[in-house]
Amino acid sequence: MKDLFEKIRENRGPIGQHAKESHGYFTFPKLEGEIGPHMIFRGRKRLNWSLNNYLGLANHPDIRKADADAAAQFGFASPMGARMMSGNSNYHEQLEAGLSALVKKEDTILCNFGYQAILSAIDCLVDRRDVIVYDAESHACILDGVRLHMGKRFVFKHNDVEDCEKQLQRATKLAEETGGAILVITEGVFGMRGDQGRLKEICALKSKYTFRLLVDDAHGIGTLGKTGGGTGEEQGCQDQIDIYFGTFAKSFALIGGFISSDENIVEYLRYNMRSQIFAKSLPLALVLGALKRLELINTQPQLKDKLWDITNALQSGLKNAGFEIGVTNSPVTPVYMNGSIPEATNLIMDLRENFDIFCSMVVYPVVPKGMIILRLIPTAVHTMDDVNYTIESFSKIVHKLKSGQYMSDKIAAV
Ligand SMILES: Cc1ncc(COP(=O)(O)O)c(C=O)c1O
Repeated sequence: MKDLFEKIRENRGPIGQHAKESHGYFTFPKLEGEIGPHMIFRGRKRLNWSLNNYLGLANHPDIRKADADAAAQFGFASPMGARMMSGNSNYHEQLEAGLSALVKKEDTILCNFGYQAILSAIDCLVDRRDVIVYDAESHACILDGVRLHMGKRFVFKHNDVEDCEKQLQRATKLAEETGGAILVITEGVFGMRGDQGRLKEICALKSKYTFRLLVDDAHGIGTLGKTGGGTGEEQGCQDQIDIYFGTFAKSFALIGGFISSDENIVEYLRYNMRSQIFAKSLPLALVLGALKRLELINTQPQLKDKLWDITNALQSGLKNAGFEIGVTNSPVTPVYMNGSIPEATNLIMDLRENFDIFCSMVVYPVVPKGMIILRLIPTAVHTMDDVNYTIESFSKIVHKLKSGQYMSDKIAAV
């Protein structure tokens, strides 16, 4: 038998095992100053492509003022208690109505965190007789929600509608035996590759199979669709999405999340979703902040247009310069390269220290060995100069990567 702490001392986890060398630089870096495309990292200004501040709302003057006014008026304590007991307010309900209008659903429930919202909604919607069918590259919150499920689950190959249908056939057979129902779960936009979930085609399977569809649209809300209503609006199938999830953590530049659906389903969630029944409600300062953000999303479509101008310039510029950006059809812009982990480490240090560009890097075990992904997140507050400088710099670093220059010892003193 082992002591628990001894076990933890020996096994630090797939990322944690590198904590000593990476903490503060590759992991847990500190980006300081006002949120935007130019932020301070280790005392110097860097061009920053690593925040999901898609619409540039994080530092928008109207938002900063609304946040400050709301905090001055209510502080962060109010309201006290869970919504069901003592934590409800007109503002919470006003925000829910506004979000329902944005995503064209009958009703909405606010949640304190996006991650917890998905996990808890899955837990609440299905019981042991029901069957879940979900995309293999789903976000951790979906996977963890599925882990809570006591019944069967079938996973389909990432964004593969044919395989989704195959799994639906297996699920249907099983649900017929158990007397249960089927919940299909996928994402509006997959945050690593940037590809939209094939929602319209999955919805079309409803003509052959009986299931309900839950979509995690964390990256789609505010960035896709004519009115910013998300990936379902973009693909013309929002009415076929039965349960729609959005977070405030990305284009809203806040914290919290929401789930929208038929009135009857949202009422059920309100009275059964454990993460909301047994937890303090979203503070009023955040609710008022979210209302202001919603107002800007509704009244300032130019923010989304600007995001797409930057996205299109960045993605077409990278492609024209010979970079592989995969199958993205959202602002998420992955740049795929080949190299070892030491090369990736040297490359990112060179990019940060000698080009002053800060972006996230993804390597094994998140992607296969030998693959490096530099992930760029364009926003409405980047400029064409930022785009051009980045493409020029990337061309230089990829040349160095291909000519083996990152194989040597560390190239930049950190
Ligand atoms: C696809 C997806 N779903 C859910 C979440 C979790 O949302 P939150 O940060 O609001 O907890 C994220 C990350 O933020 C995400 O990328």
